[in-house]
Amino acid sequence: MRILSIETSCDETAISIVEATGGITSPSFSVLGNSLFSQIELHKKFGGVYPMLAKREHAKNLVPLLLNVLNENLVRHTSNTYTGSEETDWNNIESILSKEDGLYMDFRNNLELVPRPDIDVISVTSGPGLEPALWVGISFAEALGLFWNIPVIGVNHMEGHIASVLAQSIDTRGVVFPTLALLISGGHTELVSIESWGNYKVIGETRDDAVGEAFDKTARMLGLTYPGGPEISRLAEYARDHNIPKKSSLPRPMIHSHDLNFSFSGLKTAVLYYLRDTYPTLNGLETPLNDADRADICREFEDSVVDVLLKKTQAALIETGAKTLIIAGGVISNKKIRSEFVQLEQKLNGLCVKIPDNKLATDNAVMIACAAYINICINPEILKSKNKIVAKGNMKLQSIF
Ligand code: KG4
Ligand code: ZN
Repeated sequence: MRILSIETSCDETAISIVEATGGITSPSFSVLGNSLFSQIELHKKFGGVYPMLAKREHAKNLVPLLLNVLNENLVRHTSNTYTGSEETDWNNIESILSKEDGLYMDFRNNLELVPRPDIDVISVTSGPGLEPALWVGISFAEALGLFWNIPVIGVNHMEGHIASVLAQSIDTRGVVFPTLALLISGGHTELVSIESWGNYKVIGETRDDAVGEAFDKTARMLGLTYPGGPEISRLAEYARDHNIPKKSSLPRPMIHSHDLNFSFSGLKTAVLYYLRDTYPTLNGLETPLNDADRADICREFEDSVVDVLLKKTQAALIETGAKTLIIAGGVISNKKIRSEFVQLEQKLNGLCVKIPDNKLATDNAVMIACAAYINICINPEILKSKNKIVAKGNMKLQSIF
């Protein structure tokens, strides 16, 4: 089955075409085309992602990205008859795209003469994420579905992160159930028990900030640019490589809480208090830290995150009896966190840790195709659904059954 997938939940616009085979027992994916545009440079100036700006950028980039993917030429076009025929319901397409910042004209001007590619279904992220950004992706997917007469399905972004490990070509070890997933991203910190594909139960989550959010907010306090995760990670590594003396000390929030929940807003606040207490003569957040002190705080912050994630994940592994651990979401791009979990695999006999490589760890469209395939295998009827796809900013990860 060939799936065209679209991801616009935050500040990455991404489209891919993926060939999915193997069914629910051994799903396997090969990427036929993949195109991604990151808006990070644009949002950097503002220190975070502005939903309406993200939406406008998605609207600008969707058509060029689709043309890129189609031009990768790995997908055979079904025929040389152009779909932009008299039968095309342009009025309906216009009404679907009318609120999406010029997307209709871009769509019509550029896609009218593009042959229909050989794909079976279009999948699009419908949540969680920034609603204006989600809507533009959904509208685009629905317009394409109408234009090419192909079914369109909505997919949960977090299920996409989990399923991203299935697209790994290097690590071909299968997922054995029960599986545990640790999801660590800009909006989520969750431990999910997975009995089988589509059967998810959140058994632990953050009570306040997500771990990626804590990286980003702490980075801002330290005068580092958005997104803060990679910046903190770079400086923490510098502190380790250069043996910068250890001065700062931060808490390990909820590490002894006897449950599987997290709290990262306290860690961020602890950095704030540490800065205030250590540099009392300086005014609040404008602390001109020297590079060594900043790197020391980054290392301590990262160590705290690692300690908490390891402790809670190990407890969840015991509770669920899982032998496969999937770790996904943008924060797993962090080298230190990655290497600590690889070491955990070596330490715990029989545990298989599956981590997507960096391209699949941060937001992308391939993972949306993987999740779509799982959904279709479990319930092929969704391909016939006539329900409108609705963007849900706070969509929860729920069992498909
Ligand atoms: O999954 P993702 O790309 O988008 C969301 O769905 O949220 O995750 C983005 C988050 C940001 O908070 C970013 O700072 C964090 O992932 N991140 C990192 C690293 N690279 C990205 N956090 C720590 N270390 C990194 N190297
Ligand atoms: Zn994400």
